[in-house]
Amino acid sequence: MSTPIAVFASGRGSNFQALLRAIQMKLLDAEIRVLLVDRECAAIQIAQDAGIPVEKVSFPEWGKSSEFGDRGVEAQTKFDEAILRALSPHYPKFIVLAGFKRRLGPTLLHAFKSDRSYYRVVNIHPSLLPAFPGLDSYEKAFQFGCKVTGATVHLIDEGLDTGPICAQQAIEIGDCLSVEDVEKRGLAVEHKLYPETLGWVLTEHFDLEKRRVSLASGALPEVWRWCVFPR
Ligand code: GRF
Repeated sequence: MSTPIAVFASGRGSNFQALLRAIQMKLLDAEIRVLLVDRECAAIQIAQDAGIPVEKVSFPEWGKSSEFGDRGVEAQTKFDEAILRALSPHYPKFIVLAGFKRRLGPTLLHAFKSDRSYYRVVNIHPSLLPAFPGLDSYEKAFQFGCKVTGATVHLIDEGLDTGPICAQQAIEIGDCLSVEDVEKRGLAVEHKLYPETLGWVLTEHFDLEKRRVSLASGALPEVWRWCVFPR
């Protein structure tokens, strides 16, 4: 049975589009029940063109100012609760983050906790974590003069880009002349790495021990699916 998922995005939506395409081509056995956004963004149009419902939940304005002190926590909880309300009619089993520019708080994460204690929330990050967590990671790698950067698919935990790593791919950028070059090369990798990794993560046929995520024995059909993605 296809895994019902909610995709979260805040921007261009190229990873969202890549996931849609992989599903349409039957390379990924998932059903995108809803796109959740926190702002107006290009991803909305992609969802509408594909007939996927869109829910918009903005982070409370009053929670953004440091003047409010502890109210930041209160704002995060309100945001989490509003997301849960928006998701409830769609019954997603997993949240798949695709360029979502807001943190998820404990209230939301706990609603997606599996009985093996990880959260059913997956992200793609544009670096070889733990290098360059946070925003603008391709730019940071380029400015730092890195010869190699990469992309990481990981489970979400309470930290910023600190969750257990499912898959990584290195990307040579030594000959890139601009951030745009790096990003173009990076996104081409992300668009394959994300659907192929979700192919086995969403089945939950993996072992997770001391942060190590590995395919469980008996998950061979999912491994076979990787062969379909050209490298
Ligand atoms: C990607 O680089 C992704 O790794 C990061 O945010 C960017 C989103 O791009 N989390 P897009 O909106 O999917 O085009």
